[in-house]
Amino acid sequence: MSSATAIPPTSMPSTDRFPIAPWDEASLVQWPDMDAHHLHLVSLLERVPHTADDDLMPLWAHILHSTIEHFGDEDRWMQETDFPAQHCHMGQHALVLDMLREVEARGHGGDLEIVRHMAHELSNWLPQHIDMMDAGLALHLQRLQAGHAPDVDAHTCGSESSCG
Ligand SMILES: [Fe+2]
Ligand SMILES: [Fe+2]
Repeated sequence: MSSATAIPPTSMPSTDRFPIAPWDEASLVQWPDMDAHHLHLVSLLERVPHTADDDLMPLWAHILHSTIEHFGDEDRWMQETDFPAQHCHMGQHALVLDMLREVEARGHGGDLEIVRHMAHELSNWLPQHIDMMDAGLALHLQRLQAGHAPDVDAHTCGSESSCG
């Protein structure tokens, strides 16, 4: 066997085509359950560029499961505390989950590049979502925990037109 055929050239992914955005401590919202979930999700995403094709879909299943669990927790906290911007925030969660599930189906169909691409996109989206939506939810939960009334004007969506 020649050295040219010993190692299939596509068996290991490139680590630089779809890089994962590094975690920035500025994305901490000081609500421990939320911060822990975000850090866990980023730790899973960071594994994607270093994961071989054969192991990618099991990792994606783990990412999808973790995201479903996390969005579910946030949705429940919003509903239980009557969070003012809950419909906008929950709508964004639902939109992202639809995309992640679509990517899972395409990955199982053999398109692994879109899985790696979506991991990259999700890592870029997450800090923006945290800044625009999760931080407001964390502030809301902190206010309630401290015994204050909700600030109904402080938590609006980034774009009213996208809230429906
Ligand atoms: Fe979150
Ligand atoms: Fe969220």
